[in-house]
Amino acid sequence: MSSQNNKPLTTIASLNKLKNESKKFSCLTAYESTMTSKICDAGVDIVLVGDSLGMVIQGNDSTLPVTMDQLIYHLECKGNNNSHIMADMPFMSYATDDLGFENATRLMQSGAHSVKIEGGEWICKMANTLAERGIPVCAHIGLTPQAINRIGGYFVQGRDTDKHDLMIAEAKALESAGAAMLLLECVPDALAESITSQLNIPVIGIGAGAKTDGQIMVVHDLLGISCLEKPPKFVKDFMSEAGSIKEAIQLYNISVKSGIFPAEEHTFF
Ligand code: KIV
Repeated sequence: MSSQNNKPLTTIASLNKLKNESKKFSCLTAYESTMTSKICDAGVDIVLVGDSLGMVIQGNDSTLPVTMDQLIYHLECKGNNNSHIMADMPFMSYATDDLGFENATRLMQSGAHSVKIEGGEWICKMANTLAERGIPVCAHIGLTPQAINRIGGYFVQGRDTDKHDLMIAEAKALESAGAAMLLLECVPDALAESITSQLNIPVIGIGAGAKTDGQIMVVHDLLGISCLEKPPKFVKDFMSEAGSIKEAIQLYNISVKSGIFPAEEHTFF
């Protein structure tokens, strides 16, 4: 599939460079080739083949039913030319270090440039093993949807002092272990800012305010076709301001990179 975008391939090195130059980067989920090519052509830096597909594609009420084979089916869809492809490790696909190693290898052999793993300190050993073997890991902390049954709901994380301090410690431990990126979900603005400024690796936010290095959103949310009756506060329907899907994605990309999105109304304090 041809690209309308001459941007070179986004790599871990180029994302690090953007962080060092205090330039924002954009990320979106995608699960099939046509949407991936539109996202790529708009200049979005990272495409996440997320386990959110369990909700937005399969219609489940959580991400838990998604399997490795299903994730790989979506990951193998074409359409990418120059974005960084990140693949989610589904629920229980990394329950042990051996399983995590085997499944991360499968994702990389199916077209991923990095893998995303939900979890705090307990995934440090795995992040280290994978990093040493050439697999970049994005560690996902804050609200981790695969742990929804333990957490009890889609709430903001890190508001009380213990959780706040724990999250900073986890972020630092993950960086020291070799994580290449960190993703913060549903975290108060000041905590996300503090973590972003203390880490050298790029930090991506969703519902984590405007101070993280990058932003991510589920593409269906951006297009105003959220599977939820009431989309979360951090979601913006860019389609309502655009004349086409292409324009909505371009608007998201520009809004993230210029710091217009997320605005205060999308932020937890
Ligand atoms: O699976 C997914 O789409 C995600 C994003 C919400 C960050 O993990």
